[in-house]
Amino acid sequence: MTALTGRTIATVGSGVMAEAMIAGLIRDGLVTPDRVVASHPRPERRHELERAHGIRTVAKNVEAVRGADIVLLGIKPQMLAKVGREIGPALRDEQLVLSVIAGATTAALTGILDHPRVVRSMPNTPAQIGRGVTVWYATPDVTAEQRRQTAAILRALGTQVEVDDEKLVAMATAVSGTGPTYVFLVMEALIDAAVHLGFARHVAHDLVVETLEGSALFAKQSATHPAMLRNMVTSPGGTSAAALHELEAGRLRTVLSEAVWAAYGRTQELGDQLEASLAASRAPAAATDGPSAAAAADAGRGGSPAGRASTSPGSPPRRSSAGRTGRGGQGARGTRA
Ligand SMILES: NC(=O)c1ccc[n+]([C@@H]2O[C@H](COP(=O)([O-])OP(=O)(O)OC[C@H]3O[C@@H](n4cnc5c(N)ncnc54)[C@H](OP(=O)(O)O)[C@@H]3O)[C@@H](O)[C@H]2O)c1
Repeated sequence: MTALTGRTIATVGSGVMAEAMIAGLIRDGLVTPDRVVASHPRPERRHELERAHGIRTVAKNVEAVRGADIVLLGIKPQMLAKVGREIGPALRDEQLVLSVIAGATTAALTGILDHPRVVRSMPNTPAQIGRGVTVWYATPDVTAEQRRQTAAILRALGTQVEVDDEKLVAMATAVSGTGPTYVFLVMEALIDAAVHLGFARHVAHDLVVETLEGSALFAKQSATHPAMLRNMVTSPGGTSAAALHELEAGRLRTVLSEAVWAAYGRTQELGDQLEASLAASRAPAAATDGPSAAAAADAGRGGSPAGRASTSPGSPPRRSSAGRTGRGGQGARGTRA
């Protein structure tokens, strides 16, 4: 018996990320294939999913949503207005919507779907091989049981961390969500440096990838601060000391910090733009459909209880006016896999 036993899961936007979740859930025995239904507009994609996972597929998003307990939303952000308007009216109050859409705040999601039980999650690329880290926030309407279900589903993508403040999802977008980009760039730069030294490219690749993987595992297993690990291998007058001098002279730490702040600022901008475009797409309905449509439009701008944490004045200040320390650990519930 697991948190997902007997539950039906629908995926809307059944692309790379949704498939990683489907594969992980079935692989881990959390759901059986007959409990998963994926919608996709393209028949060849539907056949692909059926063949690979033995699940049921449908062409219409609304058809997938109707019989489900949990709806995984894996569409691209630009499809949210269209798909949200399509499936929103079909959602029942007790259903959980779990979104992996980058930048889609709960205000945007609850507004466009007109549905209060929503989880906003931010996975990262290694989720595709079950080694990602996902930070997630649930609106107050999401029940304790649905939070357990969310944790179980996201565990299929790797480590999951629930936070009780939505701002932390935006912050995580800049750290873990965008994190693989930083690592891939460092990886590429080190490979190129090794080639410059004279290694064949495939050898350079293996040396660098194994070094990064081994170092990450060592840091994890030793549970020692990275500075301590670095000190352990930095002999007086040695090679590490010479290399570190160059890295510090090149402002590596500062550049990485600036990159994280830039990604955070951009996340907020994109979230604001998405909310504004969704609110604009609902505006004619608000003008003509009376109080309930107007309330939904207001929710999209952060007016609903679920929307409070995203774009209200309580959001983390942008870089220009913010202090820079001590924010990362706030609000995390530590529900690690
Ligand atoms: N991939 C990652 O590593 C990652 C990491 C963090 C967050 N995310 C977020 O996860 C979401 C999905 O990303 P992804 O990489 O899985 O993208 P993806 O592979 O493009 O998946 C989206 C799927 O939605 C389908 N689709 C298009 N229009 C649709 C409609 N009207 N109704 C239903 N489905 C429709 C697309 O079909 P077509 O193939 O025909 O276009 C595609 O299969 C994005 O919002 C992204 O921000 C992804």
